[in-house]
Amino acid sequence: MRRKVIIANWKMNYDFHETTYFIRNFLRIVFEKKINHKKEIIIAPSFPFLHISNQILQGTTLNIAAQNIHQKNKGSYTGEISAYMLKSIGIQKVILGHSERREFFLEKNNILLEKIKIALKYGLNIIFCVGESDLERSNNKQFKIVQNQLTETVFHCTSDEIKSFYIAYEPIWAIGTGKTATSEQAQTMHKFIRSLFLEKYGKNISNEISILYGGSINDINAKNLFYQKDIDGGLVGNSSLNLEKFLKIIQS
Ligand code: 13P
Repeated sequence: MRRKVIIANWKMNYDFHETTYFIRNFLRIVFEKKINHKKEIIIAPSFPFLHISNQILQGTTLNIAAQNIHQKNKGSYTGEISAYMLKSIGIQKVILGHSERREFFLEKNNILLEKIKIALKYGLNIIFCVGESDLERSNNKQFKIVQNQLTETVFHCTSDEIKSFYIAYEPIWAIGTGKTATSEQAQTMHKFIRSLFLEKYGKNISNEISILYGGSINDINAKNLFYQKDIDGGLVGNSSLNLEKFLKIIQS
């Protein structure tokens, strides 16, 4: 069955105290108030706090994801962190291909494919992001861009490997801008992405793969977005840093 998923991408926000305070509070509210969210919930804090966050969530249904990995498993890559290391502290998921990684850290599709391969080797689930820029959309190139991003990366994987993926459609113009895609724009792209999976991997996989929307999701627009047929949840940035808003989003 296709999973409904909400992922909090905290990016480079929150220190140790803020991270642990948020997660403990969130857990307390979700479980004490028995909040009925029916969704898989994943939180992606910064690297130094992955271990403690994972420990706090032990024995719950909530999960932790890393925001990135290096494409090698070890070696002389000062400052980098690998899938091999994450695996050793019990992390099971990683976000790859985020547009901020593509833009600020020049991660091209060939590098992302290497990251995918090493993540799979260490048994990590991958939240893989795709999405077009404002200019690309104004030139009506959004479908071509997203198709390329998938063809050059995810589509190199076998049907078996694809079971480890979540796909996140995050139009760059909607990230952190307050200008969310309309439900219609998002649904059209999600339907297109699902059709690409149908073409490449067949009906079962295209029906089962969770495709999440990301880009200025908030507690007001979430419901309408998640209501769309091919939108299986969200990858949330800013609004996931606010406990009240995030609680509303998981219940949307
Ligand atoms: P915002 O929700 O802040 O637009 O960020 C979206 C995002 O980039 C999640 O990965």
